[in-house]
Formats: sequence, structure tokens, C-alpha cells
Amino acid sequence: MPSHEAGWAHADGALKGPSWLREPTDTNRLVPALWSRTAHKRDGDLVVGGVALADLAAEHMTPAYVLDEADFRSRARAFKEAFAAYDVFYAGKAFLCTTVARWIAEEGLLLDVCSSGELTVALAAGFDPARIGYHGNNKSHPELRRAVVAGVGRIIVDSFAEIERLDAITRALASTGSTDTAVSVMVRVTAGVEAHTHEYIATAHEDQKFGFSITSGDALEAVRRVLSAPGLVLLGLHSHIGSQIFDSSGFEVAARRVLALHARISAELGVTMPEMDLGGGFGIAYTTQDDPSDPAQLATEMSKIVEHECRALGIEEPRLSIEPGRAIVGPSMCTVYTVGTVKEVALDGGARRTYVSVDGGMSDNIRTALYDADYSCSLASRHSDAPPVLARVVGKHCEAGDILVKDEFVPGDLRPGDLLAVPGTGAYCRSMASNYNHALRPPVIAVRDGLTQVLLRRETEADLLATDLGVTRA
Ligand code: LLP
Repeated sequence: MPSHEAGWAHADGALKGPSWLREPTDTNRLVPALWSRTAHKRDGDLVVGGVALADLAAEHMTPAYVLDEADFRSRARAFKEAFAAYDVFYAGKAFLCTTVARWIAEEGLLLDVCSSGELTVALAAGFDPARIGYHGNNKSHPELRRAVVAGVGRIIVDSFAEIERLDAITRALASTGSTDTAVSVMVRVTAGVEAHTHEYIATAHEDQKFGFSITSGDALEAVRRVLSAPGLVLLGLHSHIGSQIFDSSGFEVAARRVLALHARISAELGVTMPEMDLGGGFGIAYTTQDDPSDPAQLATEMSKIVEHECRALGIEEPRLSIEPGRAIVGPSMCTVYTVGTVKEVALDGGARRTYVSVDGGMSDNIRTALYDADYSCSLASRHSDAPPVLARVVGKHCEAGDILVKDEFVPGDLRPGDLLAVPGTGAYCRSMASNYNHALRPPVIAVRDGLTQVLLRRETEADLLATDLGVTRA
């Protein structure tokens, strides 16, 4: 709780920042846990994938998302190896483009898509449709039909209406003489767990839009309806409890409840489902206050939980799958900005806050404004011996809530033209980017072994005007 009625920032007249934020002895040093694995400083220059961000910015301009390919692949591989007995689906909603879909395929992971658009990108990448899981709480008849015809490996059903639609689609396809029209489905259930995360990214408590409630009996009823549809093959139950979760107790409670339903279905309906999906949601370190588990620890914990529950229930373990998104791509990317203005603002009580405005903002990272998320940043283009000052990094949008980094110590001589890099922006930044204020969405540039590869180019003003049919009438 704030110790001053106007907030912690005003107490004692001194700006100290949140309790977890430590003033660094040297602002030139990176905190390795927050950056992709190849990131390091070389004479003040931040280098990622062997490329100095100053060189990258000179060629490609800023803002730009920089994706460390080796880091991304190593995180994908770490999940694949740690969860060797599981199927690992990369959650494409975190970040997806065709090249990343190909990397995922090359690393042996499967892919979770949750919209027709994500399916389009996956198919355009040549991703094997049989290795795709298709999510969403409101998939339309045409969207479902397209997925079935494309041969998507599994569809995760989320409503009775959707089960009806899939039943109708598979019957209609069978009646035209199409062969192989059966579609594998999982039933998404709500385990009634309050995961300790932001309300908007928690998904397994009862009062929200996803899944069938176990408690109300809807989940069991959904299973019955799937079983009575001749074209649907029931693979198992699916549960995703939320995102940016550090505490395995949420997974434990969810696994217990979902496995209990799994066992009940076997006992009451005589159907042994071969699989179960425990979703994604594994947290990453955005700042020094976060301490995530690595994939090996997660795998050990989750396997122990499932093994224990299955033994207690006297059932065979289903084949398990997980869907990490953030934990793979999140730490692999940073965003590089150019500082435009540095402004000191006097606060009540005599404290002063330094506002650093950069050339991007909530259009390339909405997470701070939307979830009150914390980020960090580092001067990327030179060494500085100036003492640290506590700053707030803001964007250039027409909105006071356009904040990128709420609190960070930056060198006291930060000035226009400096490059500032924000780590941990791989997940849900580009994928949730907007054209607010008609901003051009930044490029995503992969770096590896000193080479750059533009995966998504920067949008142009022509892109902005492309959908504006008034232009041609002018
Ligand atoms: N599986 C399902 C069914 C999901 O709904 C999600 C995320 C994932 C897997 C992947 O979760 P991850 O491992 O990436 O945490 N925009 C929010 C996050 C929304 C997550 C939605 N579902 C954010 O920026 O934090």
C-alpha cells in the first residue's frame, strides 16, 4: 500500500522507486537474467546475436524489435528436451510470423494457434497442419470448417455451440463422400483455480469466458456431446490456468481437478481419453523481482504432480501436452528505441521525476498500460559514467498512460539521440501492437552470429493508407 496519500513516489519528498528496485552501482551493466543469452555490452554498445544495436538502428531505424534467434531456439529446445515425454505446443499468440513458425517446426515443437489469422500464418509457413492445435472461445462455422478441411490436428472446443458446429461440419463433409473427415478434439475445462496473476490474464477461475466449468457439470456434458458426435474423436481435457505464473500450486490444484474429471469420465462413461493438456502460462523475468523456474524444474514439478494424482486415482497417466508461449519468446526479444526528450517533472512534496520519451510507446508495447506490467531498460549506444537517476520511460502517444517502463535507474546524462533497449518484449508486444495515433508498427529483426534478418518489415505510410478507400476518391 502507498505510504503517502499521493503514492509511494511522494513519501519523504524523495523518489525511491518500488521496494524491489535496487539502485545499480553501474548502469552500464546488464542484469543477465533479463536479457537474451547472447546479449552483452561491448564498450558501451549493447550487442545481441553478434550485432551492435547501434549498427542495427543505423540501418533499420527505431523503434525495432530485435529477436535473438539462438536464444529463441535454445528456449524452444529446452522445453522440448525437459518435457521429452510430453507434446510441447508453442503458443503462437505470444508472437508468430512465418519464420518463427519454421523455427518451431525445426526444433520439433507443435504449434498452438487461437485464431484464423494465426492459422493463416502457420499454413503460409508450411507448418504441418496435423501438428497444430486450434484454440478460441468463439470459432465460427466457416473458421471451423476451414480448420477441419486443412487437416488441423486438434481443435480445442470451448462451447456447446462449437461442438454442434463441428458435428454439423463433419457430417456435411462425410455426406459429400469426403474421406478422413473425423476431427480430434479436446474439451477445454475451467478448473476453478485463482492463479496469482493479473485478472485479465487469469483464465481458470469460474467467472470468465473460457472453457466448460467442471463444478457446474458443463464439462462432463460437453464430453458426452463430443462422444455422441460420430465425426469427433475425443482426445482429452484441456486446462489453461493463466499467464505469467510462478507458483506451481495453481497447476497442482488444476491438475488434480482435471484428472479427477478424467478419471470420472473413464469410470462413468467407460471412455479412456488418451491425452490431457495443461496449457501454458510459465512466468519469465521482466525485472529483478521475478524469479522464474527453468523448463527442467517445471517438468519435474508437473510430472510429479500428475504421477501422484494418477496413482491416487488409480488411473493410467494420459499423454500430456503443454503450451508455453511467453517462456519461449518473451526473453528472446528486446525493443530498441531512440530517446527523443528528457524532462524533469516536479512532483508534490518536492520530489522530481525524470521522464524519458522514446520514439515508440503503447502501440508497440501495451502491456504496461494494460496489465500494469513492469519492465526494465538499459542505455544501448554508449558507456556512461553519470550517476543513476530514477526515470520513467514513456512513449510518444497522445495519452498520459503511455508508459513503457514505470521505474528504472538510467544514467543521469541520458540525452536525445541515445538508444534505449527494453528487454523481455518478445511475448505479447508485437502480437498486441496497434496503429494507435497511426503509428507504424516496428519491424521484427532477427539477429544471429553477427547477421540480421528482417522477419517483419516496418510498416509504411502506404500501409496506413492501404485500407482507407477515401484516398483514391480524393
Ligand atoms: N494456451 C492457452 C490456451 C492460452 O490461452 C495461452 C495464453 C497460452 C497457452 C500461452 O500462455 P503463455 O505461456 O504465453 O503465458 N496478453 C497477455 C497474455 C494473454 C495470454 C493468453 N493466453 C500478456 O501480455 O500477458
